[in-house]
Amino acid sequence: MGSNPLFNSNKMKLGIIALNCSHGSTITDVENAWQMNWLDTKSVAQMADNAGFEVLLPVARWKGYGGVTNFNNKTFDTFTWASAISAITEYSCIFSTVHVPLVHPVAAAKQCATIDHVSNGRFALNIVCGWFRNEFEMFSAEWREHDVRYEYASEWLTLIQRLWSEDKEFTYKGRWFETKGAWSEPKPLQKPSVPIMNAGGSEAGKKFAASSADMSFVLLKDRDFEGGRKQVEHLKSMARAVNREIDVWVHAYVVCRDTEQEARDYLNYYVKERGDKTAVNNLLQIFGLNSQTLPSDVLDEYRFHFIAGHGGYPLIGTADQIVEEIEILIKMGVNGILISWVDYLGECRQWIEKVIPVMEQAGQREPKN
Ligand SMILES: Cc1cc2nc3c(=O)[nH]c(=O)nc-3n(C[C@H](O)[C@H](O)[C@H](O)COP(=O)(O)O)c2cc1C
Repeated sequence: MGSNPLFNSNKMKLGIIALNCSHGSTITDVENAWQMNWLDTKSVAQMADNAGFEVLLPVARWKGYGGVTNFNNKTFDTFTWASAISAITEYSCIFSTVHVPLVHPVAAAKQCATIDHVSNGRFALNIVCGWFRNEFEMFSAEWREHDVRYEYASEWLTLIQRLWSEDKEFTYKGRWFETKGAWSEPKPLQKPSVPIMNAGGSEAGKKFAASSADMSFVLLKDRDFEGGRKQVEHLKSMARAVNREIDVWVHAYVVCRDTEQEARDYLNYYVKERGDKTAVNNLLQIFGLNSQTLPSDVLDEYRFHFIAGHGGYPLIGTADQIVEEIEILIKMGVNGILISWVDYLGECRQWIEKVIPVMEQAGQREPKN
């Protein structure tokens, strides 16, 4: 079995997020914005794989957000995407993302096992419970009360892990699932389970991640060092309290240029001049963030970060400045960053050429063999 790089010893692991979605994580119609097609996806995935990125992660999205970009309107399905990407890569851990209420565990068990075989044991599963009600309405799926969604996810995970590990047929009766003669083959190559990831931000979400996931994506609420460190430590200590270890990853949006001024000018250009205000307002409205709930300066700041990179952590400046900022994230206890760029193709290449060598010099990563 090939080894999954997810848990290698690099101090800061690297991933790419939302490569499977039109406009990725950036809500702008600037030149070179990510239109998303298979040939470009393949180029970025193979380039990142070759350079030793640990993770390629698709986002599960079913509907766009309107505006001139119709942000995330086109998305490749996360399971078939992961299977295809697995077949054309050799190193990276390939994720699928699943909305647990929309896929039965018996079907998902087989989809995941298939990808684990295609990737030779490099697969991992991002479990999400649902973020946007309008997506669930397309499925006539029940939109459960927030914390109940995580109870449902726990039962879903229990069942899929039994399907992955038990050789004999079993009967399962829980609160939501009742299944006779449950069974699945082939089993995943990775034992005892494929790695599980979750991105819950609420207390219920964090509890689920701490008790069931190997990694959690954290949306850093505080951008100051002490606030971020406490948030990361809180999650890790919740896991330790139930005798588990959890890695913490954050989403970062990147603009790297030869000078800091050039990077900031470009950021301001694609956000302020070319940002899609309609789409970002629609997105924030779904989160309940609007002029009734927030003062206008705070709302403007949210708009800026969501257009720039879906509210992720900004890594803006020269390669040296970005690596210094990454050092701060390492000190906060962050284990990995999931990157989004405006132009995945050009800027991933630039990251590989300019930033990775500096990360290696700084001792944040080992060169890939
Ligand atoms: C990095 C990251 C990736 C996420 N990916 C998805 C996704 O693909 N699909 C989705 O519906 N939700 C996604 N989410 C949303 C989370 O699953 C979660 O619902 C959200 O962070 C709110 O937390 P809560 O559910 O605990 O309230 C993502 C969140 C983060 C921070």
